[in-house]
Amino acid sequence: MPSLNIAEVRENFKNSLASAKNIQELEEVRIKYSGKKGELTLLLRSLGNLPKDERKEAGIKLNELRDEFEKDIELTSKKLRDSENEQLEINERIDVTLPAKNNLNGTFHPVVQTMHEIANIMQGLGYSVATGPELEEDFYNFEALNIPKWHPARDMQDTFYLPDGKLLRTHTSPVQVHAMLEFGAPLRIICPGKVYRRDNDTTHSPMFNQMEGLLIDKDVPFSVLKGTMSEMLNAFFGRKLNYRFRASYFPFTEPSMELDIECVKCSGHDENCRVCHGTGWLEVAGMGMVHPNVIRAGKIDPEIYNGFAFGIGLDRMAMLKYGINDLRLLFDGDVSFLLSGF
Ligand code: PHE
Repeated sequence: MPSLNIAEVRENFKNSLASAKNIQELEEVRIKYSGKKGELTLLLRSLGNLPKDERKEAGIKLNELRDEFEKDIELTSKKLRDSENEQLEINERIDVTLPAKNNLNGTFHPVVQTMHEIANIMQGLGYSVATGPELEEDFYNFEALNIPKWHPARDMQDTFYLPDGKLLRTHTSPVQVHAMLEFGAPLRIICPGKVYRRDNDTTHSPMFNQMEGLLIDKDVPFSVLKGTMSEMLNAFFGRKLNYRFRASYFPFTEPSMELDIECVKCSGHDENCRVCHGTGWLEVAGMGMVHPNVIRAGKIDPEIYNGFAFGIGLDRMAMLKYGINDLRLLFDGDVSFLLSGF
């Protein structure tokens, strides 16, 4: 074995080692020299072909070379791993002082959320959700609710009429009639939905949201209506509120009431409160015992059954619960408002 050969292998090896840029390239160098068919391996195998007197010396030298190779590989591998880790640390370093990414998950609109919350409470009281058309016939929106053509109550609920005589419903009360005709008595339903009126200023929108409630059964006392309303509103606002039932008038209920709750902002303690304007009360619902004419229009016998109905403004409820002070925010579709979390 010519010693030149050993020196040459060593030098080539050192050069290859120096040019290995990563662990993978280093592994290629290792295979090239000490793999099964590696240059060093072949040299070691060819020892047997040498004359006996040269064999010993060549064997020592080759073994030294192998030890040296192994040590070098080991050292280079550590160096490469260290620098790879260092690079990784630099690349993946997290700067905890950077501002957090915006959470762009979709959310329910506050009015829809309010609707779900109240619907859940009412379902807990045994009510089912009913729906009806937004494009309504005069009969359901007015006539069957004891509001004939000549009735002055129509004035307050002017709406959008279509050429075929249909109209955009002005309240969710027509669903009372649909539900009685469809399901008969006894009956317990709520009906959330959009309603429309010819109204448009800072505190009125031409489209807004209501939730109707209707209970029909035998011998229903007015006290159950009062209890149902306070139960629902206490659950919705998460505390026991004070209530005020005021005599009012709706053609489809007799007697009729309007319900005020104590101001959820100041409870009547702030003369300058911008939510209740210092009155301490907030009007939240219309209600009453269903007029016999309406029960009759629903093809139920008012001699056997009676009941109550209420209508609650969902936009107002959302504003009160979530402290939204401008109605228009509910309809503008401003994403930064909608994503502010409710
Ligand atoms: N429909 C009435 C309104 O929109 C509210 C109401 C519903 C009143 C049910 C009494 C009973 O003003």
